Amino acid sequence: MNRRQFILAGVAAGIAGAISIKPSDNGSPYDDYFSALNSSLKNQGTFLPSMLVDLDLLDKNIEVLKQQLNPSVDYRIVAKSLPSPDLLAYVMDKAETNKLMVFHQPFLTTLANDYPQTDILMGKPMPVKAAEMFYQKLPTTSEFNASTQLQWLIDSKERLKQYLTLAKAQNTLVQVNIEIDVGLHRGGLQQAQELDALLKIIENNQTHLRFSGFMGYDPHIVKIPSIVKSPEQAFAESQAIYQSFIERLYQQAPQYKTQALCFNGAGSPSLLLHKEKTLANELSAGSCLVKPVDFDIASLAQYTPAAFIATPVLKKMHGTQLPALEFAKSILPIWDKNLQQTYFIYGGKWLAQYESPAGLQGNGLFGTSTNQAIVNGSEKTNLAVDDHVFLRPTQSEFVFLQFGNIIALRNKTIENQWDILHG
Ligand SMILES: Cc1ncc(COP(=O)(O)O)c(C=O)c1O
Repeated sequence: MNRRQFILAGVAAGIAGAISIKPSDNGSPYDDYFSALNSSLKNQGTFLPSMLVDLDLLDKNIEVLKQQLNPSVDYRIVAKSLPSPDLLAYVMDKAETNKLMVFHQPFLTTLANDYPQTDILMGKPMPVKAAEMFYQKLPTTSEFNASTQLQWLIDSKERLKQYLTLAKAQNTLVQVNIEIDVGLHRGGLQQAQELDALLKIIENNQTHLRFSGFMGYDPHIVKIPSIVKSPEQAFAESQAIYQSFIERLYQQAPQYKTQALCFNGAGSPSLLLHKEKTLANELSAGSCLVKPVDFDIASLAQYTPAAFIATPVLKKMHGTQLPALEFAKSILPIWDKNLQQTYFIYGGKWLAQYESPAGLQGNGLFGTSTNQAIVNGSEKTNLAVDDHVFLRPTQSEFVFLQFGNIIALRNKTIENQWDILHG
């Protein structure tokens, strides 16, 4: 190759390289589903940022859950992941369970008042002062009997002693469910022998304390890299730990063999692994029913996303105009068609990903905003002012709380507005 050919080859390679890294047009208009939702919201909606839950898709997810649930165990709904009293009532009805797992004292107070027939297990250990607040706030006329319908989660001997003092002060019986560490290492007893001291305290204080079971949460079993350990192996190991606690319990206090205890386990990610055989007699899950982005994992492949944020487009501009880079307004879209349109939306910066129309993206150069976020897309996204941008929350438990209520959809139209839990 002579010098001239060499230079030409270099230029050609440069052009080919530039073409290969040139962003492709990711945009497309709404599909039929989101087009219908946009029309419904324009006819019936509030034109405010809204959290939508599609009840038809939720129903399908509840059916999937029923099929995936080990037939010999109960289902306990994780309330923090579906944080609306009406939504929880809906799921309790459809999934035929009155069992809730609760993680926040104000939610506990609301749910015990609104649904006095529920059976509640706390999903995390509450500081004893927060527990005390619950007793103070529970009306004396309440039909909810905390001594039989509520299990506090206890993770240490010290906390058990605090709850004993509380039970004595309240002149009540407190049910104690013991958190065990089955491999997640987020807390709870690590060795079965640690049980002995707690059982002794309970045995010596039977007027005020009742042992009600174990809670061993195991979502790590599907998250360990498979090169390190398969989910099946991690599940077997976590079950072996669970077994060691049950054995120790029956050895130290055989009377529990004949008592109805609550052996709680799982969470959405690991539910399926418990299907064939499990030591738990009840399994908890919540997020899988609305399937936020973080739950796009193999074990939940059969579930469908059922919760979306919808927010109106406030402003639409051609090109992408950035402060101090005004000259680039029309140049940027030549390089990247996804910068052909600029939209500013009502709100923003949620823990969420753009869902529809496809190909929308934030703009790192402009920055983001919780008030009016910038969104770019190609001409194909084709939104007008007052159309809605749809996003999928990455998780439900915190994102739902940022909205005043949930818009419940049926047949892609608004059926109801449900309050969100607060406090
Ligand atoms: C104790 C416990 N059980 C179960 C779950 C599962 O909840 P989800 O199904 O919403 O992931 C959680 C989630 O944090 C948890 O902390």
